[in-house]
Amino acid sequence: MTAIVTGGAEGMGRATALKFAREGADVVVGDINAEAGASLEANATDLPGRIVYVPCDVSIEDDVAHLIETAEKTFGKLDTIFNNAGIEQPVTASDEIAEDLFDKVIAVNLKGTFFGCKHALPALLRNGGGTIVNNSSVSAFANVGGNLSYAASKGGIMSMTRVIAIEYADRNVRCNAINPGVIDTQMNRRNRDLAADPEEIERRWRAITPLGRMGTGDEIAEAVLYLATPLSSFVTGIGLVIDGGRIAT
Ligand SMILES: NC(=O)c1ccc[n+]([C@@H]2O[C@H](COP(=O)([O-])OP(=O)(O)OC[C@H]3O[C@@H](n4cnc5c(N)ncnc54)[C@H](O)[C@@H]3O)[C@@H](O)[C@H]2O)c1
Repeated sequence: MTAIVTGGAEGMGRATALKFAREGADVVVGDINAEAGASLEANATDLPGRIVYVPCDVSIEDDVAHLIETAEKTFGKLDTIFNNAGIEQPVTASDEIAEDLFDKVIAVNLKGTFFGCKHALPALLRNGGGTIVNNSSVSAFANVGGNLSYAASKGGIMSMTRVIAIEYADRNVRCNAINPGVIDTQMNRRNRDLAADPEEIERRWRAITPLGRMGTGDEIAEAVLYLATPLSSFVTGIGLVIDGGRIAT
């Protein structure tokens, strides 16, 4: 299997790239963090699959087109893309969100996912079909508080996921999303450190999650592997909630 993971240098993208490579897949990671990307590539040389880092800002269409071309040129085909790159919105009252903050979150999260789908689809079709997994969030379904632009971007990702799933179903392309709850990554460490009382924030995250803890990148990687491969051969157009029970409450 040849896979692309955007935002794969850190967090759940990194965990997924490593999971794929351990399962024997060749992985092309696109990310803006060159240092973390190079370190991932250097640390993955003894795995059954290879990991190649490509500098890529998903909000720039040419970067995403180049990422997909690199995967096809290096490994001869593309089987799956995990559109994972995303940024948080610092907690802000909705009537105080500056236009440039709104634009930035939408450009990376929503437009970046659109570019990933748009440019991966022809490559998947050249290979007889394949899978797309988009990283949405529980914010697509429930108000988590103070993050309007982020929630809008993640809701948009769910809508795009359904459109692509239906439009390409007859050409052997499946498109699904994941909806993580609170996962222990750099993103949430940044969110926690911005809070007036970081320990209180962690307590609150545990309290709103019935399983009583944050999820891990590896738990997300397992779900992405399922949706990316024939393990999920009759599944398309869904959002798979991975949130320790949070939105069931
Ligand atoms: N952490 C959570 O609790 C949580 C919950 C739900 C959804 N998500 C989503 O999961 C995805 C991954 O988040 P994470 O928690 O692993 O975050 P993270 O910050 O730990 O990692 C994100 C990665 O994306 C990269 N990135 C950022 N902007 C980019 C851009 N413009 N182009 C390419 N790469 C870029 C970063 O360099 C980093 O390597 C995001 O889409 C996020 O919205 C996270």
